Amino acid sequence: MKSWQASAPSNIALIKYMGKVDSTQNLPTNSSISLTLNKLLTYVHITEDDKDQWLPLQKENTFKIELSEKGEKRFLSNWLRLKQYFQIEGNYLIQSASNFPADCGIASSASSFAALTMAAFNVAQDKGSQNLDINKVKLAELSREASGSSCRSFFEPFCVWSDSISKFYSAYENLFHFVVIVNGEKKKVSSSDAHKLVVTSDLFKGRPERANHRLELVKNLLNEKSLSSWEKLYEVCWQEFWDMHALFETSQPPFGYLTTGSIEVLNLTRNLWQTFKDGPIVTMDAGPNIHFIWRQDQHSIALAFKAELEKSNYKVIVGNE
Ligand code: DP6
Repeated sequence: MKSWQASAPSNIALIKYMGKVDSTQNLPTNSSISLTLNKLLTYVHITEDDKDQWLPLQKENTFKIELSEKGEKRFLSNWLRLKQYFQIEGNYLIQSASNFPADCGIASSASSFAALTMAAFNVAQDKGSQNLDINKVKLAELSREASGSSCRSFFEPFCVWSDSISKFYSAYENLFHFVVIVNGEKKKVSSSDAHKLVVTSDLFKGRPERANHRLELVKNLLNEKSLSSWEKLYEVCWQEFWDMHALFETSQPPFGYLTTGSIEVLNLTRNLWQTFKDGPIVTMDAGPNIHFIWRQDQHSIALAFKAELEKSNYKVIVGNE
């Protein structure tokens, strides 16, 4: 039986996509920018079958994906949408697995839907289906309709998602990323629900303007390459993730993801910056885990900090080296 494969990386946003102007197409209320995490991958295998269905993929060095009924439906309905777009005939078994735990603040939906879109394109190309004359931006847009943040997984090292979707280069090459898993459990409020709830917060007023303003700052700072601009970058990204988490905590009803572990790790980071007058860029997604981004010349301090966190029994996963 014929089969096709694709894999796609996750990404971590420095300026967040939070709030939609159109939820049928996942059009965001503000622009965002992310770093692509090339070591955090989702694999999708597609095999001819007698019905369209999803199953977890068994593959070495991956975590078994356990999709809820709703999650499975969402994945399959997006497969059907892609099948229809490319006019792919027949039925297929879709299998997926990631090399990192799902639903814990590392954007698994981003890599999953990007990989699904790429795999569908591979099937379509092979079968000589319709609508094959598309570029990477169009593929990313197709993926965006499944899950907004997945469109940023098509470009690296950074991706800017505004009116269009494009790659962005920074003056800092090979940024080193790791994420500290303070809690690996499935989150109670999904990102998709968070998008709906944040608009009920009084603090949402001015949010698109704040985010778009910060995006311009981040783009400029990523290109300056000086210690003072790195520190400014840290400050802007720190404000940005707190802005998003403040929206969560002030929504109606309020919800949140931070745990005592999150606060402990954030405090350790603040101490590190105070001691060395230098440190990592820090950010959080809709989850309790803390993402760190370091310059290459900070490698030894980054590894020492990582070892300190591991000594305190935190699991650390490397997203970029
Ligand atoms: C907090 O892309 O998961 O990670 O479009 O509803 O699938 P849907 O939402 P999703 O939202 C991600 C939100 C975020 C911030 C970000 O990645 O920009």
